Amino acid sequence: MVSVSLRNLSKSFGSGANATVAVDDVDLEIEDGEFFALLGPSGCGKTTTMRCIAGFESPTRGEIWIGDRFINDVPPHKRDTGMVFQSYALFPHYDVFQNVAYGLLMRDLYNGRISAFAGLFSKRIARSSPAIREQVHEALDQVGLVGYDKRQVSQLSGGQQQRVALARALVRRPAVLLMDEPLSNLDKNLRIQMRDTIRRIQREVGITTIFVTHDQEEAMGMADRVALMRDGRLEQVDRPTDLYDRPNSSWAARFVGSSNIVDTTVEKADDAGAEVRLGGQRVRVSDCGAAVGDGVRLIMRPEALSVRPRDGAGPDPGNTFDGAVTKVTYLGPNIVYTVDIGAADGAPAAGTEGAGATEAPAAPEAPGATEGAEGTGAAGDTDVLTGTRQLVEVTDTFRGADALLSVGTEVRLSIDPDRIIVAEGGSS
Ligand SMILES: Nc1ncnc2c1ncn2[C@@H]1O[C@H](COP(=O)(O)OP(=O)(O)OP(=O)(O)O)[C@@H](O)[C@H]1O
Ligand SMILES: [Mg+2]
Repeated sequence: MVSVSLRNLSKSFGSGANATVAVDDVDLEIEDGEFFALLGPSGCGKTTTMRCIAGFESPTRGEIWIGDRFINDVPPHKRDTGMVFQSYALFPHYDVFQNVAYGLLMRDLYNGRISAFAGLFSKRIARSSPAIREQVHEALDQVGLVGYDKRQVSQLSGGQQQRVALARALVRRPAVLLMDEPLSNLDKNLRIQMRDTIRRIQREVGITTIFVTHDQEEAMGMADRVALMRDGRLEQVDRPTDLYDRPNSSWAARFVGSSNIVDTTVEKADDAGAEVRLGGQRVRVSDCGAAVGDGVRLIMRPEALSVRPRDGAGPDPGNTFDGAVTKVTYLGPNIVYTVDIGAADGAPAAGTEGAGATEAPAAPEAPGATEGAEGTGAAGDTDVLTGTRQLVEVTDTFRGADALLSVGTEVRLSIDPDRIIVAEGGSS
């Protein structure tokens, strides 16, 4: 049993008026063998949470358990955790073998199996011990670095250094692997490649892993489950698909992917859902627990909407709007159209809490940037209400230059009622 439990974990730095609450009452159950990501913006408490688990910080309140061991008072080297740091923390003057063996030697020193005096000669001991040689070899094999033992660390690429750091953490066969932004020093291609490598090794070893990142793509692409943190608290803990499809809040929706977020009012409600006002028209929402007159915040992912030219648009499937394309963003396989759907009539959603809330510009020719569609998270969404005009983002598949809609094209927009998410305001 190597699950990890955090119970009401809190950590403050400083005291009185200068106190910073870095981790605020976090409750988490991480399962045996799970690859678990802590995701959130800079300063939200990810590293502090991880350092509490590793034993480098002691909690102000709460409990930490690894399996059935209560470890609050257990020193770091006895916690059975292996840690990989953003900076790798390798010894540049040691070769690969020595760096990996270091993890074992430290454990043995702490456990009294090697005397402190012998520790001074640890480099030699490491090489001469068949048991250590075998374990280092196995760890290097796991990370694909067999044959590199004698290479100086300073002569390795960033990705190779990252693998050495991983081997050093794994060689002790810890129960829990802790990784704090391990990929952020690598260039984009290598980062993507290393995601697969880390995931493959983690599956092979079956080790419970906690992975800290502020990169939503990394968390969503790698993790079995993601804890989204905000100001020291857990905003949402879910599988990546659920986090994307059912964000608990508009803040979560903004941080993970790009969204159209609209505040409006329920005009009609029945067992099958509700009708709300949007762009001067009524729109059907399938999953809505709110009552007539309630204010609701709608979250619509760009893929929940589709767009086609109004000329020859064919039969109206319902939940449609007429609008005009104001911006076309080409993203390789996808196109994001920004569409002006006319007068806004809900309460403005601009200025909402959370990362990236922007006052949308008043002029329709200047909608918000669409970086969010590329997956950069918080800053990228387009807040759609301006008080006068309403702009939404729609994702379409690129089907060749001929099929591209140009700016100014009159379009008909459909919204899938099953994919409108009701966040704050609604009861669902
Ligand atoms: N040793 C410390 N003393 C005082 N404040 C600290 C200390 N360590 C962290 N903090 C504060 O605690 C908060 C959380 O920091 P933490 O390093 O956990 O954030 P993070 O989510 O890892 O951010 P990043 O993505 O930038 O690494 C921040 O406000 C930070 O300034
Ligand atoms: Mg950090």
